[in-house]
Amino acid sequence: MKFEDYKKIIEKKLDEYLEIKYPEKIYKSMRYSVLNGGKRLRPIMLLETIKMITGDYVIGLPSACAIEMLHCQSLIHDDLPCMDNDDYRRGKLTNHKVYGESTAILAGDALLSFAPQIIINYSNVDKVTKIKILNEFFNAAGVYGIIAGQIMDLDSEGKDISYETLSYIHSKKTSALFESAIRIGSILANVENDILNELTKFAQYFGMAFQISDDIIDATQSFEVLGKTPKKDEKVSKATFVKFFGLDESKIKLNYYCERCCDILENNKFKSKIFIELVNSIKKRVN
Ligand code: IPE
Ligand code: IPE
Ligand code: MG
Ligand code: MG
Ligand code: MG
Repeated sequence: MKFEDYKKIIEKKLDEYLEIKYPEKIYKSMRYSVLNGGKRLRPIMLLETIKMITGDYVIGLPSACAIEMLHCQSLIHDDLPCMDNDDYRRGKLTNHKVYGESTAILAGDALLSFAPQIIINYSNVDKVTKIKILNEFFNAAGVYGIIAGQIMDLDSEGKDISYETLSYIHSKKTSALFESAIRIGSILANVENDILNELTKFAQYFGMAFQISDDIIDATQSFEVLGKTPKKDEKVSKATFVKFFGLDESKIKLNYYCERCCDILENNKFKSKIFIELVNSIKKRVN
């Protein structure tokens, strides 16, 4: 399976699940932020985990779409004026800019509650597996995951924080969702605990590398490349790797996490061109 093939399949399913019903306005706002050209990294990684281990991926489609909806929810809320206050996302106006703040908040809430119901209603697995998957979903969504990262991220603006806190923020606001995607894939592929632990580590390192790359490109790339307003982090003195270490050292840290990802793939003989391609794409983003 190629990256683009996964993407097409995921987008078709997202479109199906997000069929417009009454009240139209909320569905339109949800669709606006889901069906708008994201890279779909997290659902692809979920599906690829299952494919790498079992040879097929179809069983993961509902969970993959749920994870992407959770990601899109986190972006809608992240962009709100009371959060990062961003006007652009994926090259288009942010949800609140188009639909207004109240609808954007509700669209985020709606996606957050709709997503686990996709897992419940469409996953073709036994009840115990469903609960395990849902637990992973909620771990990422809630106060053990994204919310912990986001509150610390906002609270750390303009402050001098420790490296420990910076790593905590990145691991929670970003790695947690990659972890959840890969762990859900692993659970659906029925892996042993030691493999689950290795794949979890891979996701943690990948998430760190990915957020460091996001910090770097915020400082170095244009609107055309980012699809978001450049140099936003510096404006509010956001707690980023670039602020803490500068550009060169941040690239070294990014490479470190990418190397750890490659080590895990190699040491465990995880054979996935997609994972290798993804790790390499993080390195390429910052050059
Ligand atoms: C943006 O994630 C949020 C971060 C964790 C930096 P992506 O860069 O994966 O966003 P999309 O889904 O491709 O727009
Ligand atoms: C990404 O943090 C984390 C979440 C959205 C949960 P950022 O605030 O750096 O993401 P971008 O740069 O707005 O995409
Ligand atoms: Mg943010
Ligand atoms: Mg942001
Ligand atoms: Mg950013």
